[in-house]
Amino acid sequence: MSFRIALFASGSGSNAENILNFFSGNQNYEFPIIISNKKDAFVHERAKRLQIPSVTFSREDFLNGENILRFLVDKKIDAIVLAGFLLKVPAVLIDAFPDKIINIHPALLPKHGGKGMYGHFVHEAVAASGDTESGITIHYVNNNYDEGNTIFQATCPVLSTDTPDMIAEKVHALEYEHFPRVIAELWG
Ligand code: GRF
Repeated sequence: MSFRIALFASGSGSNAENILNFFSGNQNYEFPIIISNKKDAFVHERAKRLQIPSVTFSREDFLNGENILRFLVDKKIDAIVLAGFLLKVPAVLIDAFPDKIINIHPALLPKHGGKGMYGHFVHEAVAASGDTESGITIHYVNNNYDEGNTIFQATCPVLSTDTPDMIAEKVHALEYEHFPRVIAELWG
């Protein structure tokens, strides 16, 4: 029996694609669906290219969670990976998938996390903070933004001359290097 993972993504989906490529041909895992909250997100283009079904649920569905839960149960999903997903995960999903929902945050939590801290806002905050390092945090998802237990962190240096874009580039490299591997180790 393979382990079935749903990917949630709101934007470009480069992490989702990287994960799919990493597990491609691995019979132990299946990725039956990509779920988004944005119908025009670029992740749908990637999904089409990779021949993975993708679907968009409305804001109301993400507030309530019941429709999404039914959909995931119907698809026999075992776990959820948030790969650049910007909405709060509904409590019914968190209850239905205990310790089976993980997220990647593009900084070293507990720094630079919480509501509104996503994407470029994170890298701008890091650049403005004077921190000498940033990185990634892969963590379990609970009912508070960015507060679930940490599974893995990796760091990169931040120079005083680094722009937010330069920090983003280093952090993306860490995401691509580690996220799929950590998923495999967690649910191997
Ligand atoms: C990543 O930096 C991820 O850590 C953050 O949002 C970004 C998503 O990028 N949560 P992509 O959509 O995977 O290209």
